[in-house]
Amino acid sequence: MRIKTFEEYQVAYKQSVDDPEGFWAEVAQQFQWRKPWKKVLSWDFHEANVKWFEGGVMNITENALDRHLAERGNQPAIIWEPNNPEDQAVSISYNVLYDRVCRFANVLKKHGVKKGDRVCIYLPMVPELTVAVLSCARIGAIHSVVFGGFSAKSIADRINDAACTMVITSDGAFRGSKVIPMKETVDAALDQCDTVKNVIVMTRTRTPVSMLKGRDHWWEEEVKHVDSNCPAEPMDAEDTLFILYTSGSTGKPKGVVHTCGGYMVYASYTFANVFQYQPGDIHFCTADIGWITGHSYIVYGPLCNGATSVVFEGIPTYPDAGRFWQIVERHKVNIIYTAPTAIRSLMSYGLDYVKKYDLSSLKTLGSVGEPINEEAWHWFKDNIGGGTCPLVDTWWQTENGGIMISPLAGITPEKPTFATLPLPGIQPVLVDENGKEIEGNGVSGNLCVKFPWPGIIRTTYGDHERCKQTYFSTYPGMYFTGDGCMRDEDGYYRITGRVDDVLNVSGHRIGTAEVENAINMHLGVVESAVVGYAHDIKGQGIYAYVITEEIPDDPDMFRKDIAATVSRIIGPIAKPDKVQFVTGLPKTRSGKIMRRILRKISEGDVNNLGDISTLLDPTVVEDIKKGAY
Ligand code: WTA
Repeated sequence: MRIKTFEEYQVAYKQSVDDPEGFWAEVAQQFQWRKPWKKVLSWDFHEANVKWFEGGVMNITENALDRHLAERGNQPAIIWEPNNPEDQAVSISYNVLYDRVCRFANVLKKHGVKKGDRVCIYLPMVPELTVAVLSCARIGAIHSVVFGGFSAKSIADRINDAACTMVITSDGAFRGSKVIPMKETVDAALDQCDTVKNVIVMTRTRTPVSMLKGRDHWWEEEVKHVDSNCPAEPMDAEDTLFILYTSGSTGKPKGVVHTCGGYMVYASYTFANVFQYQPGDIHFCTADIGWITGHSYIVYGPLCNGATSVVFEGIPTYPDAGRFWQIVERHKVNIIYTAPTAIRSLMSYGLDYVKKYDLSSLKTLGSVGEPINEEAWHWFKDNIGGGTCPLVDTWWQTENGGIMISPLAGITPEKPTFATLPLPGIQPVLVDENGKEIEGNGVSGNLCVKFPWPGIIRTTYGDHERCKQTYFSTYPGMYFTGDGCMRDEDGYYRITGRVDDVLNVSGHRIGTAEVENAINMHLGVVESAVVGYAHDIKGQGIYAYVITEEIPDDPDMFRKDIAATVSRIIGPIAKPDKVQFVTGLPKTRSGKIMRRILRKISEGDVNNLGDISTLLDPTVVEDIKKGAY
């Protein structure tokens, strides 16, 4: 299962293509199964149907917890670093984590949560978040973690889409110098949800909160009244493990469904190989568990490998820009896995914050979430990795379950800004607009994958047709990623960014349609069009062109009001960075907005707009270029 040399990688890759079932069966055998699978793989990309290890019975928590107790029960599973560096870090051993998960799983059961029920988790980065996630998995309940930065409305949409019966939250959250209400936001969401029967509230900030009798319960109180024996629910490999919502180019966010067996195998295999994890290594992934990176590389991947995973509650710049490096020194971190946006932001504060700390424990650096520019790549490699630590630029998506294209640390020769080569089991193809495969090297196209891997999305919750349409219909017979990509002369892959209407803002996926819908809900707005523009820190910023009923008296105030509405409808992460008021939008005769033109204008490239003759009214472009008001 463990690749140690580049030759071994090549052999494994070849085997994974020649005999995918044999390859993955061998990997999967290293996990604990209650009953072996009957069939390794069955699939039909035309119908968006994929099944791995069908008939196999297991529980992911037995692999993440029980399996380690005999050998490393006292080893830390989690090291929790609180928001405030003055507060003590907390180390939670596998024994203790096991005990806490079993107890909390019994709390869920006591409140009637059963296998297959959906549970919404809206928590800050506290140990209880991992406990809550694993407790759901323990009893076969499906967790739907919602990132703590989302608004009440976004939470409500997600709860309603999955008909969750329980919500797990906290009174509040500490984020940098701020105290953020959590329960209050959940309360506002629950005014619009009627499936939720119970809410469990853990105490973090001890902010006053309303607690409804019969519905709301304190975490700390609940766990006192249950025992710590909770056998794991037997799960079929293809039973749903979790739902995670992500943005697409149209409509509301989709609930990406991952199942137990394939996801476990894929997240664990990629963790071990990409980072070249060694027993005893301390792994620090700086993502939030509210995103897929946190699911796979804070919780499931590391724990299924018996690793020690650092969970950090705070933000990279509080109390100052040395916070990550302080954590590395404090916990002797060996692997740090972070995002280009964080690197670019920390770069801008200068090296003094880096030099204060001893980073000699680091062995491997990782990057994820967006293309990493050359400057950030070198800064990370040289100043954080001392020029010697391997740096893995890992490309993958929520829908993939785990890393897809990436170097193996210290094994695959690196090339800055390239995600390099596909992992074993991954068969990428580049296709042109007509769906024709572009062969050979030194080419660019749209990135697809032509064969299933164990971590692939199984469906979009409650709407299989949507899954088919979104991922499997653009290029029939292939999974379409939505990303553009080049393959250079060496066969190395470089992801160039989305080719659909999805933005990547600070590594967060945001659909332009979602932001437009939110802006259009603002009083006095007639219509809007949103595009991304190059942003030094965030990678992409959000640029909104807005038509209003009347010329605003105070445009700046109006911009702030629009931002407030977007915050309220989606969350602060989707606030536009720039709002330009316009009198018209460039539309084709069939009414489609030509975003290509708007993108160019937003990047200041106004003299190079290409052919605008197909526009219904080409004069709007002149007005927009002038900056109407
Ligand atoms: C982008 C995050 C370039 C890409 C794990 C993808 C990347 C989207 C990289 C998925 C990378 C992710 N280089 N682009 N190393 N990693 N992306 O679902 O556009 O939040 O489609 O998953 O992020 O974002 P998601």
